[in-house]
Amino acid sequence: MGGVLSRLLSSEREPEEARFEERLRPSRLSEFVGQRRVKEKLSIFIEAARVRSEALDHCLFYGPSGLGKTTLAHIIANELGVSCCDTSGPALEKPGDLAGILTSLSDGDVLFIDEVHRLPRAVEEYLYSAMEDFSLSIVLDKGPGARSVRLSLPYFTLVAATTRAGLLSPAFRSRFGIAERLDYYSPEDIHRILIRSARILSVELTEAAGAEIAGRSRGTPRIANRLLRRIRDFALVRSDGRITKTVALDALSLFQIDEFGLGEMDKRILVTIVEKFSGGPVGLSTIAVSVGEDAGTIEEVYEPYLILRGFIARTPKGRIATPLAYKHLGRSPEGPGLFK
Ligand SMILES: Nc1ncnc2c1ncn2[C@@H]1O[C@H](COP(=O)(O)OP(=O)(O)OP(=O)(O)O)[C@@H](O)[C@H]1O
Ligand SMILES: [Mg+2]
Repeated sequence: MGGVLSRLLSSEREPEEARFEERLRPSRLSEFVGQRRVKEKLSIFIEAARVRSEALDHCLFYGPSGLGKTTLAHIIANELGVSCCDTSGPALEKPGDLAGILTSLSDGDVLFIDEVHRLPRAVEEYLYSAMEDFSLSIVLDKGPGARSVRLSLPYFTLVAATTRAGLLSPAFRSRFGIAERLDYYSPEDIHRILIRSARILSVELTEAAGAEIAGRSRGTPRIANRLLRRIRDFALVRSDGRITKTVALDALSLFQIDEFGLGEMDKRILVTIVEKFSGGPVGLSTIAVSVGEDAGTIEEVYEPYLILRGFIARTPKGRIATPLAYKHLGRSPEGPGLFK
């Protein structure tokens, strides 16, 4: 069952997976579990925009994959009672692509741009006047007769999402009135999400099983839901369909997801730092070559959780393994490992 976790972590979705996610996606703010402060602020801004009949300020959501950025964009449109037009940074290749979309919106609509860090610079700059003055200048004709005309746009709300906020230019970031970072969820919140999902899927999930799965979901709703789906299959085939703690533990051990939610790649990373580089410090690109994974994926997908749980730390000289990493691998930081 190698690689189960890497598929659980992937932000790529096959059509069936996408349909499954859609089914479990909350559509109202009240169903959105956790992220209490973000929710509270949004509910105030949304209510104010509604009372004043104005468009909501532009919003930027950033943070690791699977934490609810796309979900929030759609919730905002739903709560405002407006349409949401979905696009993404790489899809907007030329300023003309953006102009086409912007002119098709109605007052108050939400324009959702996913992966906004991949927006070409020329399109980003073109977006500035749209965000600020709700106008665009377009150039008519070519050559000496070329002239530019101002086109006014509907009062739209841009909702942008990114896993790489650091790649956005300060000028762009400053144009968002609302910018919220989504953080990993507590095991309790993930448990609540699992209970909600199990109800929607009509699968019986015991309290103890839910808590067990929650603890191994890396604080990430998408991973929790994907694990639930796989364990549901396991329960159906190997048992009577109910997800009890025993069933969950058997499935999780088959999928090689340990009690911290770490999978094979995480362990490879830890073992590399500990064994090949004596605990570090070691640079990201060196780790990447050693474990055979892309450096960007390690930095974006694996490392944040390993840091969050205190298995590795970042230093100016590179990554180091913490005593907890040694303990988890059953080794001692001082000498040859117990299980070597
Ligand atoms: N707070 C939440 N409450 C309940 N379910 C949630 C919550 N956040 C996310 N989910 C579930 O997790 C899934 C993934 O969320 P979403 O697609 O919004 O993540 P994302 O941040 O946009 O990820 P990516 O960066 O990969 O695009 C959704 O289908 C939704 O069902
Ligand atoms: Mg998304």
